[in-house]
Amino acid sequence: MTDGDLAEIEARALDDVRAASSLAELERARVAHTGRRSRLSALLAGIGSLPPEQRGPTGKAANAARRAVEAALAERAAELEAEELGAALERDVTDVTLPGDPYPLGALHPITQIRREMEDIFLALGYRIADGPEVETDWHVFTALNTPEGHPARSPSDTFFIEGHPDRLLRTQTSPVQVREMQAGEPPMYLIAPGFVYRRDDVDATHSPMFQQMEGLAVDEGLTMAHLKGTMLHFARELLGADREIVLQPHFFPFTEPSVDVQVSYVDKAGRPGWLELAGAGMIDPNVLEAGGIDPERSTGFAFGWGLDRIAMIRYGIPDLRLMYENDLRFLEQFA
Ligand code: PHE
Repeated sequence: MTDGDLAEIEARALDDVRAASSLAELERARVAHTGRRSRLSALLAGIGSLPPEQRGPTGKAANAARRAVEAALAERAAELEAEELGAALERDVTDVTLPGDPYPLGALHPITQIRREMEDIFLALGYRIADGPEVETDWHVFTALNTPEGHPARSPSDTFFIEGHPDRLLRTQTSPVQVREMQAGEPPMYLIAPGFVYRRDDVDATHSPMFQQMEGLAVDEGLTMAHLKGTMLHFARELLGADREIVLQPHFFPFTEPSVDVQVSYVDKAGRPGWLELAGAGMIDPNVLEAGGIDPERSTGFAFGWGLDRIAMIRYGIPDLRLMYENDLRFLEQFA
């Protein structure tokens, strides 16, 4: 082995390493030039059998050649890795400006839409929105609302009572919010209270054990039936059209006196005019004002209430209440 041989071995190794155009080719060059069967390894292995005076210089030169080849291998490996990463990134490039996969979008439920519209009508009149519990006491739902013991609405066949709590029930109407608000506040008060109510009804096209109501309450000095009628007329026209008329028919509610059924004019598909029930309403019974801590000698008030479901059905021409709670997307999409 001469110095010329070593120089040639190193030069060929460096050429191959620098010429490798992929990590796989580089690996082949590594095995060929620094592997166990490479000429360089054989040369290093043979040093022990050289005459002693040659061992030092040859070993030094051979090791230097090996380090040079290893350094070239590392350098080329880094270059090739960077190139391959760049190529992979280019291959897998994602165009973030492409439209994504559309996610099916629903719509606000028709009852939510109509509730918001109604809220806007009353907010514009200076009313505020109040809230109350769905699990109520029978005092708030019945006693304070002038509904005596023995009234059919208090019977377990009409009302869901809470097991083990004979005085707790699911409210059958939003009217108990009237009582809570009167107890908590002072006249003048103008508020609406939308929410869920529960009755022991079997499900059919016009009944559901759970539905939604909106309650209205106005308590102030000098309020009369004329204010109630004006408010109902304004509401009917804002919601259903400026050409609507209303009539008040005598009715009965335990907590209002007098009580009325508010009916609104409509024209059916065949062009025949008629009247539709819009709301229950009346002047708040003095007993109810007193239960709410309000002096009936100073303040009077009116209250009104209706089923949101029923009004949404009128407004959108929905024939069956069950559609409202089945959450079939084909139905709901129509209100987008
Ligand atoms: N709470 C009554 C009902 O559920 C509606 C109503 C509210 C009537 C307020 C008069 C005053 O039928």
